[in-house]
Amino acid sequence: MRSIALGVSLLAFSAGAASAAGKLNLYCAAQEEWCQVMARGFEDATGIDVDMTRKSSGETFAQVKAEEANPKGDVWWGGTGDPHLQAAEEGLTEPYISPMRAELHPWAIAQAESAGDRTIGIYSGALGFGYNSDLLAANGLPEPKCWEDLTKPEFKGHVQMANPNSSGTAYTTLATMVQMFGEDGGFDYMKRLHANINQYTKSGSAPIKAAGQGETTVGIVFMHDAVAQTVAGFPVVTVAPCEGTGYEIGSMSIIAGARNMDEAKQFYDWALSAEAQNLALGVNAFQVMSNVAAQKSEFAPDLSAIKLIDYDFKKYGSSDERKRLLAKWDSDVSTLPQ
Ligand code: F6P
Repeated sequence: MRSIALGVSLLAFSAGAASAAGKLNLYCAAQEEWCQVMARGFEDATGIDVDMTRKSSGETFAQVKAEEANPKGDVWWGGTGDPHLQAAEEGLTEPYISPMRAELHPWAIAQAESAGDRTIGIYSGALGFGYNSDLLAANGLPEPKCWEDLTKPEFKGHVQMANPNSSGTAYTTLATMVQMFGEDGGFDYMKRLHANINQYTKSGSAPIKAAGQGETTVGIVFMHDAVAQTVAGFPVVTVAPCEGTGYEIGSMSIIAGARNMDEAKQFYDWALSAEAQNLALGVNAFQVMSNVAAQKSEFAPDLSAIKLIDYDFKKYGSSDERKRLLAKWDSDVSTLPQ
């Protein structure tokens, strides 16, 4: 009898769920398709209405900062970890320890612990680049294997990347070069690369989508975004640069002063579950997920086979360092003639 009564009340819950169960304003900084399935998946699981806005990582940080006195977002899900760490340091996000934490890889928990529990790792992925093999051949260009190859004169006008102010991918690129080659060497690299750049896009994955469409030969992106183009049928080859490379810990944070705090915590817990993280597979999101039980796609780049640097998230996600590097890139690199 009890179980019948429970069944009836659950039915009643799901029928009137959308209005009864509240709402959530989600700021999403991963790829659009993934943002969509996360929003719809959470609505299906809880009946909570989700209003989702997709922007790049740096843009989302800027929005959360601009709304500090009057927060409009509840959860910031996805995007590179550096601006999440900066937001944590600036008190823009809320400390929260999810009961789901025990299910996560150590790197995801370390991200939380380094930020006073104001953010947490949801996925990881390595930086690299991809090229359109048809365009490469048509232009008689050699196969690029290293970061250094992208600065060779024959690649002039063939390389695209995002602007590090708006894009977490491009900020990761800048911070990676500074960590690999030192401050002077890293900026010298960015200047030489600038000479070959055909366009700085707003979004980090736009350059490899352009490469897939034959609009640029090379795109500097996270390797999983390049693999997604190949899987979609475009002639894109993914490269793990020979010198080594940086990586991201894609992160999630609850916005301080969130109007829908209960729903925000519910989303946070759900988004850390294997079930929610497995939604990535349906939209060709090939990042490595933070829940140890989440499925891994056969197409996901194998991070253990890539020469990864010991990326200093604490330093490059700090407010002073991120602001300083971006200002220096603006003044010393972006203004140079091409
Ligand atoms: O497209 C997915 C993705 O590469 C994520 O892995 C990453 O966190 C995010 O995009 C970064 O996007 P952007 O460079 O536009 O901030």
